[in-house]
Amino acid sequence: MNILGISAGFHDAGIALINDGEIVFAGHAERYSKHKHDSKLNEQIIADALVNSNFYPDTIAYYERPWVKKSRQLYAGQYKDFFKGLSVRQMVKDVSMGTDLHKLPIKTYNHHQSHAAAGFQTSPFGSACVVVIDAIGEWDTVSIWHAWYERGEAKYRRVWRQSYPHSIGLLYSAFTKAVALSTASSVTPKAAATRKRPNLSLFAIGFCVNLVISLKVIKPTNLLLLSTTGNFSILFSCRIPSASCKVVP
Ligand SMILES: [Fe+2]
Repeated sequence: MNILGISAGFHDAGIALINDGEIVFAGHAERYSKHKHDSKLNEQIIADALVNSNFYPDTIAYYERPWVKKSRQLYAGQYKDFFKGLSVRQMVKDVSMGTDLHKLPIKTYNHHQSHAAAGFQTSPFGSACVVVIDAIGEWDTVSIWHAWYERGEAKYRRVWRQSYPHSIGLLYSAFTKAVALSTASSVTPKAAATRKRPNLSLFAIGFCVNLVISLKVIKPTNLLLLSTTGNFSILFSCRIPSASCKVVP
């Protein structure tokens, strides 16, 4: 099966082309548009993907469930955001360059499950406990998954979740904003570009507070840091001897 994976509309748009389980192309929109954290796809990234692979996708996989996210935006009073990016199909049509990409079937996945899959399915583990700490998904802010393979197919079972408005990631964002750093970037490049002088000591205090809260909330055994993405989206994975995962909410 050939899948075009898309993450777009929030920050750092990107795509990946998967051919029978193998990643054959992955691209980050900002590398093409030269706009830092570009949330939009562009025609160049799609063209590059299609030219550099010798197959055409059968289906599109979108990284979150837009209407579930809209319900949270309504709840949070983000009425302007509610009317933005309503249609994934239209988003694809805007960059499909006369192809029929936008006519392909579109499957949407839970935002935190997408993070978990990015950690688990690129790891060497056959079974893992995956911890996702995000600013915000559709509603989830922290989630813990049991992930395993069954007849070659990755399976996920969410064993614990924390929902909006309780968010370690949003607390982190508030601290980084307060000290004049970007909430969606690593510290150095954006800090250098900002006009205000960042207060790094306050940032350090905020980071420590976040860390303490994180460790108090989540205590999986044999923790191994796999990757850090976006604004405090951290995927941890740990070897677990059985399906059980020790979690202290
Ligand atoms: Fe996320």
